[in-house]
Amino acid sequence: MRSIMVLNAKGGCGKSTLATSLASYYATEKGNKVALADYDPQHSSLDWLERRPERVAPIVGVEADKRGLRGLPRDTEVLIIDAPARSHGRELKNLVKHAQTIIVPVLASPIDIQAAARFLEELRPIAHKRAKVAVVANRVKENTLIFEELNEYLSDLRVPYVGAFRDAQNYIRANSRGLGIYELPEYLAWPDWDQWHELVSYLNSKRSRV
Ligand SMILES: Nc1ncnc2c1ncn2[C@@H]1O[C@H](COP(=O)(O)OP(=O)(O)OP(=O)(O)O)[C@@H](O)[C@H]1O
Ligand SMILES: [Mg+2]
Repeated sequence: MRSIMVLNAKGGCGKSTLATSLASYYATEKGNKVALADYDPQHSSLDWLERRPERVAPIVGVEADKRGLRGLPRDTEVLIIDAPARSHGRELKNLVKHAQTIIVPVLASPIDIQAAARFLEELRPIAHKRAKVAVVANRVKENTLIFEELNEYLSDLRVPYVGAFRDAQNYIRANSRGLGIYELPEYLAWPDWDQWHELVSYLNSKRSRV
């Protein structure tokens, strides 16, 4: 089973948004049997599943907490894990055990960049030899100084920088309908599909596995 976690201790950086779109990518584009595990007590991903229309590819929701994953179907091919904010210490160690690849989304703001630097320092030794860690920029506004700063920061890290996603209503639109970015019509979402290409190529390559 392939397992991918979206993780960052910083709140509001897009973990649930990316996790739901990744789950729908594997279900719709790849035709995989997908489970979406939600560690967040706010249950944003499970709420999204509730909104998911019947006509689109099914995704199984899995409740998750300190005790582990409950109700993960045996035939799951791809497990996407939406991690909660403020994960540190022992909790972080336990979370990391569940993933082959960890995607860390970072927003373009001084506070988020600083928080990401601190979090990656904590995460890298924990993930070492267990899981591959990669970063993506989220909610970016191109041609802004702060995006340039984030771009430079992420490019200089020793972990792969595998995508930058624009700040777009499409994510909010998709989320409110229980859909992922790949399930919006092409005429609306093609600029976002272009931006997702790098992330999904990374995830489909051996580079993303230990
Ligand atoms: N690329 C994007 N463009 C526009 N809005 C976005 C984008 N990514 C996320 N958002 C919005 O930003 C807000 C926070 O996103 P999300 O809930 O995915 O973050 P989170 O990291 O899961 O938050 P939490 O730490 O609270 O679990 C949401 O309102 C979401 O719709
Ligand atoms: Mg969330």
